[in-house]
Amino acid sequence: MNSIIPALQWRYSLKQFSSRSIEPSHLESLVEAARLSASSYGLQPYQVWVVEERSLLAKLAEAAYGQEQLNSCSHLLVFANETSIGDSTVDDYFARYYQQTNTTAESLAGYAEHIKAALRDKTQQQRLAWAEQQAYLGLGSVLCQAAVLGIDSCPMTGFEQAAVNQILSLGKHNLSASVICALGYREADATPPSKVRKEKAEFVHYVGSLEVTK
Ligand SMILES: Cc1cc2nc3c(=O)[nH]c(=O)nc-3n(C[C@H](O)[C@H](O)[C@H](O)COP(=O)(O)O)c2cc1C
Repeated sequence: MNSIIPALQWRYSLKQFSSRSIEPSHLESLVEAARLSASSYGLQPYQVWVVEERSLLAKLAEAAYGQEQLNSCSHLLVFANETSIGDSTVDDYFARYYQQTNTTAESLAGYAEHIKAALRDKTQQQRLAWAEQQAYLGLGSVLCQAAVLGIDSCPMTGFEQAAVNQILSLGKHNLSASVICALGYREADATPPSKVRKEKAEFVHYVGSLEVTK
């Protein structure tokens, strides 16, 4: 059985990247890992923006309180959630669905209405939080795929959202940066930090059905 555990044990959030660049095919597979991620109703209410240009990365580093990862990384992924979520989000999804599954248009009209109603029930703030949650699932896949490929990463929320949105003109596209991820490689002589995690007993509870029903 293949396991992702050794890769997860190998990875840590790198603070200082070496000058080695990520090759295009690997970069593509990282973005593909995000694209293939699960999302609520399958709506994928976010995009991934890939930043490589040094001058842009320097500006983004300033917006991230000078965190050095942005200046030294090979590439930065910006997970940008949609800010205008509503009926058209659902219509776009079902247009894709009918096209990609060769099914009859409108065959799932009732289900589409159900999703629209569920989204309408949320406040704008809840819709944004929901969209951000979906972006984080994409981030998780990227972190895993990077680790499998031996690519280092540093997920980051330590940045001024408004500044990042402005630098990348995300507002123009009805997007807002939710989380970013610096990618690249550690130096050959880097010393991995100790992994600090909850003990298993503290982290997981196996619930026996008998105890639950008692
Ligand atoms: C959502 C999120 C935001 C994070 N933001 C930052 C950040 O702004 N700067 C940073 O250096 N690390 C950041 N981290 C990295 C965490 O500190 C790190 O994942 C955690 O300490 C566990 O360590 P490890 O990833 O090295 O195993 C972030 C991680 C996550 C998941």
